[in-house]
Amino acid sequence: MGTAPGSWRGATLAWALVLLAWAGRAGALENGLARTPTMGWLHWERFLCNTDCAHEPLSCISEQLFMQMADLMVSDGWKDVGYEYVCIDDCWMSLTRDDQDRLQPDPERFPSGIRKLADYVHSKGLKLGIYGDVGNKTCAGFPGSYGYYDLDAQTFADWGVDLLKFDGCNYGTLDQLTEGYRNMSLALNKTGRSIVYSCEWPLYMRPMQKPNYTEIKHYCNHWRNFADIYDAWNSVKNTLEWTALHQDSIVDVAGPGGWNDPDMLVIGNFGLSWDQQLTQMALWAIMAAPLLMSNDLRHISPQAKWLLQNKDVIAINQDPLGKQGYRITKDNNFELWERPLSEGAYAVAVLNRHEIGGTQIFSFSTSFLGNGLACNPACSIQQILPTSEDWGLHNWVSFLNVEVNPTGTVLLKVVVIGEFPDEKPVMNINKKLSPDIL
Ligand code: GAL
Repeated sequence: MGTAPGSWRGATLAWALVLLAWAGRAGALENGLARTPTMGWLHWERFLCNTDCAHEPLSCISEQLFMQMADLMVSDGWKDVGYEYVCIDDCWMSLTRDDQDRLQPDPERFPSGIRKLADYVHSKGLKLGIYGDVGNKTCAGFPGSYGYYDLDAQTFADWGVDLLKFDGCNYGTLDQLTEGYRNMSLALNKTGRSIVYSCEWPLYMRPMQKPNYTEIKHYCNHWRNFADIYDAWNSVKNTLEWTALHQDSIVDVAGPGGWNDPDMLVIGNFGLSWDQQLTQMALWAIMAAPLLMSNDLRHISPQAKWLLQNKDVIAINQDPLGKQGYRITKDNNFELWERPLSEGAYAVAVLNRHEIGGTQIFSFSTSFLGNGLACNPACSIQQILPTSEDWGLHNWVSFLNVEVNPTGTVLLKVVVIGEFPDEKPVMNINKKLSPDIL
């Protein structure tokens, strides 16, 4: 029986559409992970590549370190507020692959093996992250995954790993960098195990070529854009400045499943003042950044713990709308940032960039916020950091006078109120900081 030309064309068209849809999907990272920014702990900034367990048993990169962090993440309330991934960075490996070409951990420092460590971490209700490199060697000179993407992905999956941080040192050519990041993503997917894929692809690519963020998001769950963070205000400040300067190309791509990664939280270490720690926490929430602490959970001040475990800030970071925030204005050494939240709310950060003098006041109209809609016709404002305070009701012509310490940040949550409330909105507010509660 012949097929009528019309229905034949229809069938061809239908197939073409199916093929197009498939081609559109091919390569997309649809692993269902990182629907909100990843939260956990990562060893690098605090513990670096310390392999000297003979002299420094408590701070060398060993299974004991990760087991202790896992214990504390449960016993000290970190898990309860959302920190979930205990992540190994560089320097866990043996310098050679095993006789079947598989990566293997250093036998002295990880005598039980990664499978056992993963079992331990899982028994605590947590997840385990590990580190690899797209090139021939990791940044610290351990074996890279180049030429072994499928084998390494399968090894990680067999061990029960839940996150891979994939670095880009020694990547070879630009094509090898790109192909390597793509191939490892596909290799991870092929294992069938849910493994968050954390990339540094755009960071290594940018000096040669403008990163294609749509493609990067198709392959990675988060991606580093900028230099390594270190324990100093300069580093946090430069990361924020870089992010604001590039916000037009990086903010819109972020969303459930794929996030810009401004690198680890260094709160609780040595280099940041209290105000600077507030700034890092507030702005990492505004930026919808992965919250990967790199600190020593065995020795952390109650203040740093309070800040890192602050549920209101974490709720902003984890907001289900999944939109990244941006800088609205930079004026006379003050910066105003906002992040759209679910239900029409906004998180707002006022950052004082002065590095001289004392507390200063930044005044701005609520009409600056949310394109004029955040307080239209009215809104309620809650101060989240440095302390929790109710700022009451405001309207679209309110002026806010915000007192901020040098290098510090005041973080607010602004909730729009659809109709004029009976209560008369406050037209002006001048809040005092109350650092003494901490
Ligand atoms: C860097 C990376 C750091 C850390 C380090 C390890 O390239 O950005 O976060 O992983 O390598 O050697």
